[in-house]
Amino acid sequence: MPPFPSSLLNPRLSFSLKPLFLFTQSSIAPQQFPVPRQLISAKPRNFSSVASVQTSATDNGGSSSGGGGRSGALSPPPVAEEFQRIDVNPPKGTRDFPPEDMRLRNWLFNHFREVSRLFGFEEVDYPVLESEALFIRKAGEEIRDQLYCFEDRGNRRVALRPELTPSLARLVIQKGKSLSLPLKWFAVGQCWRYERMTRGRRREHYQWNMDILGVPEVTAEAELISSIVTFFKRIGISESDVGFKVSSRKVLQEVLRCYSVPENLFGKVCIVIDKIEKIPIDEIKRELKATGLSEEAIEELLQVLSIKSLTKLEEILGGAGEAIADLKQLFSLAEKFGYSEWIQFDASVVRGLAYYTGIVFEGFDREGKLRAICGGGRYDRLLSTFGGDDIPACGFGFGDAVIVELLKEKGLLPELGLEVDNIVCALDYDLQGVAATVATKLRGKGQSVDLVLESKPLKWVFKRAARANAERLILVGNTEWQKGMVGVKILSSGEQYEIKLDELE
Ligand code: HAM
Repeated sequence: MPPFPSSLLNPRLSFSLKPLFLFTQSSIAPQQFPVPRQLISAKPRNFSSVASVQTSATDNGGSSSGGGGRSGALSPPPVAEEFQRIDVNPPKGTRDFPPEDMRLRNWLFNHFREVSRLFGFEEVDYPVLESEALFIRKAGEEIRDQLYCFEDRGNRRVALRPELTPSLARLVIQKGKSLSLPLKWFAVGQCWRYERMTRGRRREHYQWNMDILGVPEVTAEAELISSIVTFFKRIGISESDVGFKVSSRKVLQEVLRCYSVPENLFGKVCIVIDKIEKIPIDEIKRELKATGLSEEAIEELLQVLSIKSLTKLEEILGGAGEAIADLKQLFSLAEKFGYSEWIQFDASVVRGLAYYTGIVFEGFDREGKLRAICGGGRYDRLLSTFGGDDIPACGFGFGDAVIVELLKEKGLLPELGLEVDNIVCALDYDLQGVAATVATKLRGKGQSVDLVLESKPLKWVFKRAARANAERLILVGNTEWQKGMVGVKILSSGEQYEIKLDELE
């Protein structure tokens, strides 16, 4: 999308108008909109649902979350008796998208969709509200404590989805054998997590997910990383700005196996290790001990996790294991895809979700200023945790918040202006109908039209055209219309002419 050339627009306004455009206009003062008195009950409402995480009175702009709500006989909120102005800010951690922000969001999402299309993926979506059970896993993940969950009016425990992967698993199980593998699905959806707010971390965010189901080989992970690299390149981000840290959970598995740690502890251990950069190392050791690991195993584990070279890892684990084989294949494929310089081995990457089983990866900014840009990995055993048959699977989630912070940092945010092809304006109130006909005709030809719906001075119309970055101004005036013609002004060149309505393209 071309940037909004605001500097180029002003000259258009300075074009002197030929008589055609100098119809007398009743100069109507800009309409004064009354400020709406938005009203809401000052009394706490009987909420029919309660977020599982208690918010403090100051947490959501000072409003109390109210009480009650778990009974089966839920009545509608009471009619307010007293009124006060509402807080016009959205709830803490959530966002409005006024037009300028929506343009940026659409720009980003269009790139997500276009890259997914380039890789042959099909788009899917799921409900934002899911059964709570879908997100309850026992491994002690942070995401569990961040769940927006409540009981609905039918006494069902439900949650706003914190991620898309469990919904994908649910749908795949539901579709069963009717699906032809491999599946290549992508989604762009809103997720909710009651997170501590930091730069790029919000309570609501959109995630672009790409997932491949039915491919056990590392070729799938390699393809997924390739799609993210393609996305970065499209938006002007290079390998000097970001990289991917890659590891495999099988590395940990092999270490734990040496110490005869039972398989069922694996998820829990991974969740603790994921916190290594967030909490003191003594706390990590304490938590690992609490999972049942011996001190010797903990020391060995921490040593292995500090390895940043695949060759060194091979020396320690030996070359025979699956972890090394998978990682070597991934690095070899990265070369063939042409993104070797984007990826590096880092044993400390394990990811904070319990379901990963193999290769895991995270996108990071090389300056180290931001949280993870994206992350994913292989989750071959997720479906059976929901009672389905396992299918090899891998994918990633890419949020909309950190990437915007990165684009800001790098001065790469696109300038996106409003873009309308035509402004159509009747110069006399009686000609509003003709202007409507002109607009309909152009819209029928696929051209966008901002139709001026009230009598406005020409100066106002020109300003509007500049703001909309319009290509043409089409004026319907009495003198011309008596000849069945309308006036056209090309705003970039200043060229103006009269044309028969029939000939207007
Ligand atoms: P995740 O690492 O929890 O993975 O999230 C993926 C990405 O979503 C993060 O790297 C970040 O860009 C974004 N994100 C997560 N939480 C927030 C937040 N509170 N505010 C802003 N952005 C956030 C998953 O969710 C996995 N389900 C990804 C996946 C898909 N794995 C396989 N398929």
